[in-house]
This record gives sequence, C-alpha cells and structure tokens, in this order.
Amino acid sequence: MMRTWQFAGHASQLQNTGDYFTFEIAGQPLFCIKDDKQEIRCFYNVCKHRAHELLKGSGNSKRAANLIICPYHGWAYHYDGTFKAAPNIKLYLILIQANYA
Ligand code: FES
Repeated sequence: MMRTWQFAGHASQLQNTGDYFTFEIAGQPLFCIKDDKQEIRCFYNVCKHRAHELLKGSGNSKRAANLIICPYHGWAYHYDGTFKAAPNIKLYLILIQANYA
C-alpha cells in the first residue's frame, strides 16, 4: 500500500472514552478507539492470541473496565494497545515453553 492518508472515519464518531468503530483498509481489519486521555488510536482488529476479531461494528467498550477484551478467550488490552491480562496466563506461558500453545 502506498504511504498516503487513508480515510477511516470522522473524529465525531468517537465522543467518549471507549467509543470505537471498525473498518477495513486494503482488506485489513482495523479499529479506532478513543482512549482515557481522549486521544484517538487505531489498531489491527485482531487479537494477539489466536487472531480473533476484537471488536464488531461500532460502540463503546467501556463496560469492560476501560479494556478491550477478546471475546474468544478473554485476553484483555488497554486502550493504548498494551496487553493487560489473560485468564490462565501462567498455564499459557507454560504451554508456550513446552511448544503446545
Ligand atoms: S483469540 Fe483472543 S483471547 Fe484467544
């Protein structure tokens, strides 16, 4: 893809913390979300775990304590994209080391 500006949506779609909308550019699933500092951030709409879609359509993810929670296995991310937690993360790390994850 050429390095040019791409239209994703309008800032007015993201009024409150946790407001988001999903979209695609060049077939890539993406979303924009307003974080706790009122900044708009955009990410791939794909979980780092097993690549499940994180968010659908548009709405507000604030109901989950200002986290984006993957609906598949529950991995949670902060609005800045950093990983927060996962259920059974200790077991998962053991499985990774054993090459089973
Ligand atoms: S795919 Fe997201 S938590 Fe497993």
